[in-house]
Amino acid sequence: MKNGKTRLLIADDQQDVLEALRLLLKGEGFETQSATSPAGILRLLETDDFDVVLMDLNYTRDTTSGQEGLDLLARIQAIDAAIPVIVMTAWGSIDLAVEAMRRGARDFVQKPWDNARLLTILRTQAALCRSLRNEQRLEAENQLLRTDGRPSMIAESAAMRPVLQLISRVGPSDANVLITGEHGTGKEVVAQTLHALSNRSGKPMITVNVGGLAEGIFESEMFGHVRGAFTDAKTDRVGRFDLADGGTLFLDEIANIPPNQQAKLLRILETGELERVGSSRTRRVDVRVLSATNADLKAEAEAGRFRPDLLFRLNTIEIQLPPLRDRREDIPLLAKHFLEIYARRYRKHLTAFDAAAMQLLQEYSWPGNVRELDHAVERSVLMAQQQLIGAVDLGLRSARPAGAGRLEEMSLEEVESFLIRKALSRHSNNVSHAAEALGLSRSALYRRMQRYGI
Ligand SMILES: Nc1ncnc2c1ncn2[C@@H]1O[C@H](COP(=O)(O)OP(=O)(O)OP(=O)(O)O)[C@@H](O)[C@H]1O
Ligand SMILES: [Mg+2]
Repeated sequence: MKNGKTRLLIADDQQDVLEALRLLLKGEGFETQSATSPAGILRLLETDDFDVVLMDLNYTRDTTSGQEGLDLLARIQAIDAAIPVIVMTAWGSIDLAVEAMRRGARDFVQKPWDNARLLTILRTQAALCRSLRNEQRLEAENQLLRTDGRPSMIAESAAMRPVLQLISRVGPSDANVLITGEHGTGKEVVAQTLHALSNRSGKPMITVNVGGLAEGIFESEMFGHVRGAFTDAKTDRVGRFDLADGGTLFLDEIANIPPNQQAKLLRILETGELERVGSSRTRRVDVRVLSATNADLKAEAEAGRFRPDLLFRLNTIEIQLPPLRDRREDIPLLAKHFLEIYARRYRKHLTAFDAAAMQLLQEYSWPGNVRELDHAVERSVLMAQQQLIGAVDLGLRSARPAGAGRLEEMSLEEVESFLIRKALSRHSNNVSHAAEALGLSRSALYRRMQRYGI
């Protein structure tokens, strides 16, 4: 980024395409250089600095396979792994665009492109690139992770270092971030931190559990409705997208939304436009979308249950949270943090765990991750009779996961929690499928998961 202008490398074998791009981009404050062949692109990249590459996937006459472009993508990444590449494909070749994104392209446009959309994509990628490269801001951002001197997000282990780095780098950008990790690993905490770091922090972050929205109410909940749109619509309703305008929308449990809702979500993410139910007026909203899931969305996409184009809209950046058992150094810090909170809340003079309790905390497998630790500490604060919290107060059976013991020795609640965990893991954490297998409604299963800290 020199003199504040975004430097763009544009490449296409057709001069008229390059000319049209040049004209459009010049007026929008971009500085462009162009190439007409793969060799030309690589030469420019080696001699000059660029913020974003926008390139066609076909260069030899009469080819449309895009293979050339895919090879080129790999060579660009070998020169500069961080530079965002946006690919252009012919109209209708969505599979090729998806393949390019799978191999690391950041976004795609189809020809003939829509100027407004192309500019949005370029600006987003340029801003992202800027924040990824801006090392100086990192310090300030790390400070922000700590509010009033005490860390709001506890993460000092080696396993969390890359997570913290990503958070401080992408937090200030407008990039859509997909947060993945097992239940209770802190996905919502990460979403809040990202929002707090962004220049949207003066506006609200609106959370929607999209996995829990019933079929019939999805649209009116997300997009709003106008009075009279349907029988129960007595007044206008503002949707979650509107509420999040200028701020952040956090879509929780994103893996669980059915295909027709996926299509509706995709449309607004692509265009920024929506209509309230019952109205034909198109509205524009400016929201940054964060989403979270404990499922493997790539596997879901491969199995045909999640739209790959939606996945690529959501995971411009992916932050993977490790399970608590893989960051045990954080356990004492987290446990102390929760102890302070609950000792204050329940007005008890408890300041520490005894040696046996601490050992148990560190050895336990924590299938419910940080949330389970939170609940265990709360229980122990309520149970403790002495000044120190003892191992028995924690209510953890042993260092083995709950439910690993013999059925006859378990309480009814333990059995239920055990069966729920089993069903979830059998269905790759897909709540809808697990609920079906257990003969429960999705919301009933959610309630139980909440109760058991799953
Ligand atoms: N790094 C952390 N520092 C402090 N508290 C944390 C941290 N991670 C999680 N927590 C706390 O643990 C609990 C669970 O976290 P959170 O709700 O963010 O998890 P989640 O991954 O969204 O879980 P789920 O998949 O069940 O929705 C919350 O009370 C949260 O405040
Ligand atoms: Mg959550």
